[in-house]
Amino acid sequence: MIPVQVYNVIHFVGIFMIFLGYGGLIVRSITGSDDRRIRKLGAITSGIGLFLVLLGGFGLLARLGYGWPIWVLVKIAIWMILGFLIMVINRKPQLAGTMWWLTLVLGFVAVLMVVYKPFM
Ligand code: HEM
Repeated sequence: MIPVQVYNVIHFVGIFMIFLGYGGLIVRSITGSDDRRIRKLGAITSGIGLFLVLLGGFGLLARLGYGWPIWVLVKIAIWMILGFLIMVINRKPQLAGTMWWLTLVLGFVAVLMVVYKPFM
């Protein structure tokens, strides 16, 4: 049986990887660089990050027995939006600034959901 702490560590590492990867891709868009190494590194890092957030999140959900409260559904929606953002980041460099702040706001709302667990 995998301890809940392991899922929590996986969840945190996944979060760090999403934000590092997207940070690199957004800066690439802002600078107008077409360096494929940055695109590849950013895509792989954020992709693995999204997977680890999902794995850790559902592991935590299973271990902590929360069921499906609204705060978890909001976080799953945030995860989906984060997953979608990479297409906008790579295809719409003119929106790079917006993507920078939107990514941070999504992270902020996800943390608000887990710290306050509203509607519980
Ligand atoms: C698939 C989507 C997700 C699911 C199912 C999920 C689920 C969970 C669960 C069940 C917990 C444990 C809550 C507790 O300790 O009482 C948790 C903690 C946490 N989640 Fe998520 N989460 C998801 C996505 C995210 C995203 C996208 C972020 C941020 C960008 C995030 C940030 C956090 C943070 C910061 C914690 C606190 C960990 C702690 O206090 O030890 N989660 N998540």
